[in-house]
Amino acid sequence: MPAPIAIANITDSQQQLLIQRPAHGLSLCGRIRVPGDKSISHRALMLGAIATGETAIEGLLLGEDPRSTASCFRALGAEISELNSELVRVRGVGIGQLSEPADVLNAGNSGTTIRLMLGLLAGQKGRFFSVTGDASLRSRPMSRVVKPLREMGAQIWGRQNDSLAPLAIAGQQLRPIHYRSPIASAQVKSCILLAGLLAEGQTTVTEPALSRDHSERMLKAFGAEISTDPETHSVTVTGPARLAGQPVVVPGDISSAAFWLVAASIVPDSELLIENVGVNPTRTGILDALEMMGADIAQENLRLVAGEPVADLRVRSGQLQACEIGGNIIPRLIDEIPILAVAAAFAKGTTVIRDAAELRVKESDRLAVMAAQLSRLGARVTELPDGLEIAGGAPLTGTEVDSQDDHRVAMSLAIAGLMATGTTTINRAEAAAISYPNFTPTLQQICG
Ligand code: S3P
Repeated sequence: MPAPIAIANITDSQQQLLIQRPAHGLSLCGRIRVPGDKSISHRALMLGAIATGETAIEGLLLGEDPRSTASCFRALGAEISELNSELVRVRGVGIGQLSEPADVLNAGNSGTTIRLMLGLLAGQKGRFFSVTGDASLRSRPMSRVVKPLREMGAQIWGRQNDSLAPLAIAGQQLRPIHYRSPIASAQVKSCILLAGLLAEGQTTVTEPALSRDHSERMLKAFGAEISTDPETHSVTVTGPARLAGQPVVVPGDISSAAFWLVAASIVPDSELLIENVGVNPTRTGILDALEMMGADIAQENLRLVAGEPVADLRVRSGQLQACEIGGNIIPRLIDEIPILAVAAAFAKGTTVIRDAAELRVKESDRLAVMAAQLSRLGARVTELPDGLEIAGGAPLTGTEVDSQDDHRVAMSLAIAGLMATGTTTINRAEAAAISYPNFTPTLQQICG
């Protein structure tokens, strides 16, 4: 019998992941760790690069996205040691002291890299920068950050009315603003707060719902003056700020843990312990949603590590029930909706996910792609303008599916494949390395 999980190299850069469900069934068990949190990894590199002194980062994610951030900030003058998950040392240049690189800055596939970096570049007086990314990133909306940055006095130009990368930035003295963001987006909020570090006075961002607050926490730890108003979802930074390098410990990424939480919930007779997972309340919407669905997940050994809450998550399989989600929970599980759709395909009843139109402008149009790819496997999924409707319980049959170069789609389809009969082949599976380079070995480990 072929190995239940195998990788086929199609070209030097393209891989297929084959998931073969054994005839006698499968159960998942073991104790695992997930890689470092992607959002926190980006921020640790960036704040380290603009602080004075040294920032020592433990547990950095070695995915493609943080690598893009590291290479951009090296080009901007920061000294960043070779990336590894034990210890990365960053020697910063000081807040308004990024140097003008000789070439275009390339953010690769990473929305967080380009949008947060734009906030920092806009205020580097007298220097000129150009930024770009891969085909996916060049199609993602940048006006959401260009518009508020311009209100602060930034000079930015780009394709299609300055809304798409490549973008050109001429650094200026910025002025503080109060920005009322129409979307709950941590990338928008963080971009404006980082720009606010260089503006004189108070820069405030108000969001319609609270998005992840890693920037606020880390900026405070680095010495910036930050105040928050939880009632109005507002954050204020006072500039000009001075940041001092700090030790950062990056917890495991709950967005990566989500694949195993769902896998162990839907594959019968499974039990997994996922150690050292970040459980910042702005990120735990997936735990709340799975709890609503009746999943058996316990948080053990809850502790605070370098300003972020961390726990070990124990998950056991059980029959899931459908749920309806929308509103303020959406920003708290925005990246987990693809894998939540997989959970819903195995739940009793019809799950409805709404208010998630933002998924259309992620690394792919995740609503369209998940609806199409899960349907290919036999799931009953209807695409809504702002969400998905999934009638659970349809049997899945292995076939060829495609990640559309989206890391979270690739991994979600692999988990669906564990429960499909026959062989599921995921094309362009190498995309997983954006956020989870060891996804396949870990999958093999828990299936073994
Ligand atoms: C992120 C914010 C979210 C999320 C992304 C990471 C961040 O994007 O989807 O994966 O690190 O700030 P939006 O701000 O566009 O919602």
